[in-house]
Amino acid sequence: MNPAPNLVLVGPMGSGKSSIGRRLAERFGLAFFDADREIEAQAGASVATIFECAGEADFRAREQVVLAGLLANEGVVIATGGGAVLDPRLRQRLHERGFVVHLHVDIPQQLARLARDRSRPLLASDDREAVLRRLAEVREPLYAEIADLRFDTAAMGAAETAAKLGHLLDARWRVAAPTAAGGTRP
Ligand code: S3P
Repeated sequence: MNPAPNLVLVGPMGSGKSSIGRRLAERFGLAFFDADREIEAQAGASVATIFECAGEADFRAREQVVLAGLLANEGVVIATGGGAVLDPRLRQRLHERGFVVHLHVDIPQQLARLARDRSRPLLASDDREAVLRRLAEVREPLYAEIADLRFDTAAMGAAETAAKLGHLLDARWRVAAPTAAGGTRP
């Protein structure tokens, strides 16, 4: 049993972080936050617009601020964006303040799930498969570095994945007792 203040989902685009996170929050009776939606609410603009008008670096800066705020909570479920693991300090904070679940999905499944998506700026390419492979090469080791648990979403839908993962988490994770001013986990 691994106590951590929050439950944090990391993984690539299309791994189901938001839909599974929402279901897990419901199962555990916790509040759910989607980092991308919080960034959009604070910026008053969509992720795509932030990328287009201010660039990826600006988006990453916003992502760091928003996630630092979310991680100061106790007992919430957080779905991160696929690139949240890129910054080493944020990676450390995710690990300190969360039981980190790496949702894994293979590239063909990812392509299928994202086939109709036009909202993700990094996928605005003629060769989405190449983009996803390149991102995976860089990021898979980073997800693995901070993950307390790796879960393969394979061909399951969100409801089935959340049920199976929730069951595993019953034995693996419990909400840590609150620490003064959002300290680090033991
Ligand atoms: C990104 C993933 C997106 C979003 C942004 C950048 C990435 O989130 O944060 O488009 O770098 O992989 P999802 O993983 O929720 O799609």
